[in-house]
Amino acid sequence: MAHPVQTDAEVLSRTVEGAYHRLVLRAPEAARRVRPGHFATLAVGGAGSSMLLRRAFSIHRADAEAGTVELVVAEYGEGTRELVRAREGERLSLIAPLGTPFPLPEGPVSALLVGGDYGSAPLFALAEEIKRRGGQVGFILGAVTADRLYGVEQARALTQDVLVVTEDGSAGLPGRATDPLAQAISAIGAQVVHACGPMPMLRAVSAIALEAGARCWTAVEESMACGVGICMTCVLPVVGEDGVSRFVRSCTDGPVFDGAKVRWADIGTVPDDLEGAAAMGVSS
Ligand SMILES: Cc1cc2nc3c(=O)[nH]c(=O)nc-3n(C[C@H](O)[C@H](O)[C@H](O)COP(=O)(O)OP(=O)(O)OC[C@H]3O[C@@H](n4cnc5c(N)ncnc54)[C@H](O)[C@@H]3O)c2cc1C
Ligand code: FES
Repeated sequence: MAHPVQTDAEVLSRTVEGAYHRLVLRAPEAARRVRPGHFATLAVGGAGSSMLLRRAFSIHRADAEAGTVELVVAEYGEGTRELVRAREGERLSLIAPLGTPFPLPEGPVSALLVGGDYGSAPLFALAEEIKRRGGQVGFILGAVTADRLYGVEQARALTQDVLVVTEDGSAGLPGRATDPLAQAISAIGAQVVHACGPMPMLRAVSAIALEAGARCWTAVEESMACGVGICMTCVLPVVGEDGVSRFVRSCTDGPVFDGAKVRWADIGTVPDDLEGAAAMGVSS
């Protein structure tokens, strides 16, 4: 569990990058605690707003020395519409870091990092940590269209092994991020795959990585209300170490999960073999 802080973070800059807005926030206490894979929540709407729920964002980067936390925001609904118009000097109520980060290797490993859309945002800081431990990284960055890719140049600055894939073929190879995955795992001898992006992509990445004999860590994006483990809106069915399936909270037990343990096909349902399912009135 992270030790989050709540702070009124000053917007130092907001930069448009393709379809996204990169917010650099001053949040020194939070920045010191961030590890790759943590997320943050921002309040939207101001005091008196009917938008009671904070909005969750992966932490793109955190710089302990500069005291900054960076988020990559896609405009989606009312809350993000407001955030992508944030002005320098404005203060946003931030809670960070939240969740369980990506596990870091003890020593050198070969890792393939797979990002779909803005899901790539937390992977560059992770790549730097893996390289700092003597490892090597490759990237697959995928999106529907070129403008929805995020961080291609950041990836290229870290490694020459970068594959770009777009569904409409407007950049890189035409297709999906999962299309070249098996070949890429084998090409760089990846022992581990880290992935962040849409749930169907994570499900496919997990299956392909396992088939190829690689560990797979997935950062999920399940709808969240509280973000701190209280409301249970973010639960996923996950197989525990004891082989028993349980609902676990993606905001505190995740968002990073072992892809082999998530019951991808059962997300959004209450599987009848889940511990406690009978108590919920589910029978086989
Ligand atoms: C762990 C995590 C990491 C995320 N990282 C990013 C990121 O790096 N960049 C980014 O742009 N977006 C990210 N999202 C999605 C972002 O939280 C939603 O786009 C945002 O909450 C939508 O808010 P809205 O007011 O614009 O839309 P509305 O539709 O008005 O939102 C209403 C509510 O629905 C929920 N919601 C809607 N869409 C999503 C979604 N896709 N995922 C989760 N909850 C949702 C929110 O909790 C919100 O309270 C992340 C979500 C999670 C859970
Ligand atoms: S969002 Fe409330 S428990 Fe996870």
